[in-house]
Formats: sequence, C-alpha cells, structure tokens
Amino acid sequence: MSVTKAVIPAAGWGTRFLPVSKVVPKEALPIIDTPVIQYAIEEAAKAGITQVILVTSQNKRAVEDYFDRSHELEALLEGKGDEKRLAEMRRVMGLVEIHAVRQRQQLGLGHAVLTARRLVGNEPFAVFLPDDVVVSKKPAIAQLMAVFERRKGSVLAVTPVPESEVSRYGVIEGTKAGARTYRLKRLVEKPRREDAPSNLAVIGRYVLTPEIFEELERVKPGAIGEIQLTDAIDGLIKRQPVFAVELEGELYDAGTPLGLLKASVAEALRRPEMAGDLRHWLRGRLRG
Ligand code: UTP
Repeated sequence: MSVTKAVIPAAGWGTRFLPVSKVVPKEALPIIDTPVIQYAIEEAAKAGITQVILVTSQNKRAVEDYFDRSHELEALLEGKGDEKRLAEMRRVMGLVEIHAVRQRQQLGLGHAVLTARRLVGNEPFAVFLPDDVVVSKKPAIAQLMAVFERRKGSVLAVTPVPESEVSRYGVIEGTKAGARTYRLKRLVEKPRREDAPSNLAVIGRYVLTPEIFEELERVKPGAIGEIQLTDAIDGLIKRQPVFAVELEGELYDAGTPLGLLKASVAEALRRPEMAGDLRHWLRGRLRG
C-alpha cells in the first residue's frame, strides 16, 4: 500500500523562538521569503503525497491561512499584471490538499499525531516535523518510502551526530539491514553519552503503520505530562519490524534561531540573484 497522507504536527509553543513566536508561529517564519513549513509541503508533494493533515493550535492561524486562497491578493497581482508571483501563489496552493485539525492541549508530539487519527484512517502515513529542513536530490520522505515499500515496516529517519551531542536526541539501537538501513531493536531518548547505543539520531521524518495509533493510546504521559511518539515507536518495535534509514542530504534544524539562520544563508547561496552579493558581503564581514 502506498503512502499518500502526511501528518505535520505544528501545534507546539515554539518557545525557542520567543519573543517572536508569541505572535508569529515558528512554522511561518521565513527562510528568506518562504515559510519554513512550505519546505515540508514541497517535499511531501514531490514524493507523491496528496493529503496533508496539519495539527495546529490556537495561535497558528497564519499557518492555516497561508495555504488558503487570498482573493484580494490574487486580484491585486492580476491587476498589476504580475503573472510570475500569481502563478507561484497558485502553485503553492495546489501542491497538496490540506486539512487542519486542532490539538486542544499541547500534550506532546505523540498526542499531536494521535489527534490526526480519524483523518489518517487505517493506512500507513508519513509524519514531517517541519523544523527539520532537508535539502536533498531525492526528497527525504521518499527515501523512507522506498524502504517502507521494500521492507513493509515503519521507517524512521536518522543521521549521525557527534558523540558529544547524542544526549540531545533520540538514538537508535539496531542491526544493519542494508547500506543505509537498520532494523531497530530499541529507541533511547536522550541517552547519556556513555549509555548511547549508537550515534544515529532520529530526525523529523517518519513513515508509520496505523498500528502506531494503538500504541499511542497505550502510552502513559511521561515526566512532563507529554505523550511521546518515541515511547509509542518503542511499543511498535515489539509488535512489528521497524527500520531506520540514514538520510542523504543537507539537514537544518530550523526550530532554533541559529539553525534557521544557517538554513537561510544556505538557501541564499543557492539563489543566483543573491548568492554573489551575499558571498562578497560575508567575506568582508569575516575579514573584519
Ligand atoms: P518541539 O519539541 O520542537 O517543541 O516539538 P515546540 O513547542 O515546537 O518548540 P520549543 O521546544 O518550545 O521551542 C516537536 C514537534 O512537535 C510538535 C511541534 O509543533 C513540533 O513540530 N508538537 C509538540 C505538537 O504538535 N504538539 C505538542 O503538544 C508538542
């Protein structure tokens, strides 16, 4: 069965972006001129996903509005004859079909995924954490979907991190099942450096079988009262084969101010209309 639906949890508070996230959802913050969340939507569409379920909260109207039509703006651009911008706005709107569902209380990532259960139904689905921006030839989620189709089990994305940083991530223990693929034995959330079973950290892309919902129902809220997706995946590993794939591509953590800045600079250096100027300016700053 192919994967055509994706869940994008975007209901978190985004405290690392305070003060701006008090009024602008972090998913709407721009990489130059494009909201961070659009990167996930473009990646989904490229991989053949047709329906996206956005999990939002009270002050995320801007994210929902972004994918809605703006008749006034379209009329304005039409009047000005700005065909290029008009076409781009319409292209973004047509990438996927978007449904939004409210997570009424921010009870954690696992709870956010569970909130989408009715809209996902009984089929495998993708999960994107929009903070993780992946720039790659083959869309990151398509790299997971290829493993899912071959192995018929849930798949998580991982990337190697320096040993000194493992305690910031969920880390996998697994056996090698292919060049970049592992079969999981367990997941360890934020291990101490000396206890980490590997340096392969989980990042925000998943393809999950619908049995994850049963596991999420079973998970007890953890120390800070949150329902963790990691705990449910640990439960799933005991029932079904679960895999991890080492992603190919450049990774940016746009969930922190510095990560967003790096993603923005990298994007600017890819754009011919600004790369030369930026490079020149950066060289000057770095010399000074
Ligand atoms: P984070 O751990 O990054 O939390 O959530 P956050 O609230 O977004 O940001 P900080 O840490 O306060 O700065 C990981 C993902 O899970 C979603 C977030 O929107 C993000 O995509 N999430 C988290 C929810 O949708 N609901 C929750 O209750 C918690």
